Amino acid sequence: MSDASDARLTDRRNFIRFLAASPVMTPTAVRTLVGSLTLGSTSALAQSYDVLRAPAQAVGDVIAAPEQALNVMDFEPAAKKALPPAHYGYLASGVDGDETLRANHEAFSKIRIRTRRLIDVRKIDTSVTIFGQTYATPIMLAPVSSQGAFHPEAETAVAKAAKVKGNGMILSTVGSTSIEDVTEARGAPVWYMLYPTDDWTVTEALVKRAEAAGAPAIVLTVDRQGGRNTETLFRLRRDDTRNCKDCHAGGFANEVSRKPMFDDLDVSKVTNLYGTGMTWDYVDRLRKIVKGKLVLKGIVTHEDAEEALKHGVDAIIVSNHGGRAEESLYPTIEALPEVVKAVNGKIPVLVDGGFRRGTDVIKALAMGATAVCIGRPYCWGLAAFGEPGVAAVLAIMQREFDTIMKQVGALRIADITPDMVSVG
Ligand SMILES: Cc1cc2nc3c(=O)[nH]c(=O)nc-3n(C[C@H](O)[C@H](O)[C@H](O)COP(=O)(O)O)c2cc1C
Repeated sequence: MSDASDARLTDRRNFIRFLAASPVMTPTAVRTLVGSLTLGSTSALAQSYDVLRAPAQAVGDVIAAPEQALNVMDFEPAAKKALPPAHYGYLASGVDGDETLRANHEAFSKIRIRTRRLIDVRKIDTSVTIFGQTYATPIMLAPVSSQGAFHPEAETAVAKAAKVKGNGMILSTVGSTSIEDVTEARGAPVWYMLYPTDDWTVTEALVKRAEAAGAPAIVLTVDRQGGRNTETLFRLRRDDTRNCKDCHAGGFANEVSRKPMFDDLDVSKVTNLYGTGMTWDYVDRLRKIVKGKLVLKGIVTHEDAEEALKHGVDAIIVSNHGGRAEESLYPTIEALPEVVKAVNGKIPVLVDGGFRRGTDVIKALAMGATAVCIGRPYCWGLAAFGEPGVAAVLAIMQREFDTIMKQVGALRIADITPDMVSVG
């Protein structure tokens, strides 16, 4: 912790003692103020035993402010409370029995970390450079569609938090905000995730628009070809008394045309974003029109990774769509090694699915990932508290990551090596 934040903590402690001693303050009022003061610093909570010396603060089962969160999972119940059942169901759902969704995270518990001692780690650098752009952290924001369903400020709030924390961000084709607005809020170009339509003219226009907004990478998502059974969403929708038809008029072109990336495009011929019959020929076709980097998201096997190299792909995101594509039971952290091996350092490999702790992040980096992406956690923060919620999620994961970087004795990302984990 820096000297400045130490001093801030001391000031805060003194002020709280003064309040607690004041005859005009009730215990409840002191607790409320302590909630916003003691926990106001992203570094204070859970990093410092000062929190133990503060008066007890009952939080209950659901946090009421971002500062009350001890870890990113604390935001999920708060998101559930804030959202209508169907929207929470959309965010929470995996497919079928949600087993792959759970497996993604549970797989991290089979990987142990080998820590190193007696290395001066007081100053560490967690920055990564991908495609010539440097980010303060290897934790990026995965593309998540329709964030307006979670909070009115949607992707704009996310981009603002990402700007402050230095996280890279990927915008979905079916986001609730245009790439121009997100780029402005992020204060830097974002990657653009492409769902190819079944009308090439529309697809081409989307790519051109993203590139005009400065997107250094087009991320083609390839894991949504088979349709899916989002059972948790369907179950929770039953508890939603609102009339979904008020917003979701039905008809694919109707749905698509509500998303700002389709503004001014003729979408009358678009019938599908997902099951478009796409093959490697499509990747070649796209490769020819994408001026910057082309990334494939949704690769989980060495066979497809090898194919991606042959087709001039610039990076891979190992992903099963957060357990929302198929019930494969193949956690992405377990798929990562076969993809890393096949790629053999030729292009960056990113990975997402179930990252909830800083320790999860370091495991992936030790196993050869260049960076990781998170999906649901930042959306929980968004749904519950808007931009401050996203900022808190990013701060907590970063704080945890900083801690484990120091414990393994890594001063920079390049110092994270395979021998820092023991698998199996
Ligand atoms: C509500 C929701 C919407 C998503 N929308 C997209 C999308 O539009 N495009 C895409 O490539 N992936 C999408 N994903 C998948 C994420 O990019 C990412 O792969 C996944 O969330 C990572 O797993 P995690 O949620 O466990 O972190 C979505 C995920 C969720 C939860």
